[in-house]
Amino acid sequence: KAPLPVFSQAEVTKHRSLEDGVWVTYKDSVYDITEFVSMHPGGDKILLAAGGALEPFWALYAVHNQEHVLEILSEYKVGEL
Ligand code: HEM
Repeated sequence: KAPLPVFSQAEVTKHRSLEDGVWVTYKDSVYDITEFVSMHPGGDKILLAAGGALEPFWALYAVHNQEHVLEILSEYKVGEL
């Protein structure tokens, strides 16, 4: 399997709307979560993290500190930061 591409933070930041795609980072990975936005149990709040890091939001909403949440996230990985 070919390695995933490496993206700059500037490239990630271009993707912060449903029109342009919704990308987020977690640790050193990049995720395209566009398709997940409408399925998110926490609704549109997820868009607050669009184009940036999940960590500050997940620190506030500790409901994400569960294995099954990381499993969902892993399905949307598109690259490395
Ligand atoms: C709940 C996933 C980003 C706010 C949840 C739950 C999942 C989830 C699976 C349900 C957890 C459970 O009850 O077991 C994700 C994923 C995210 C993401 C995969 C990123 C790709 C965010 C962000 C915010 C947020 C950035 C806030 C800015 C919330 C809130 C809930 C929630 C408030 C609780 C909803 C409720 O139970 O009423 N999220 N989330 N989430 N999420 Fe997220």
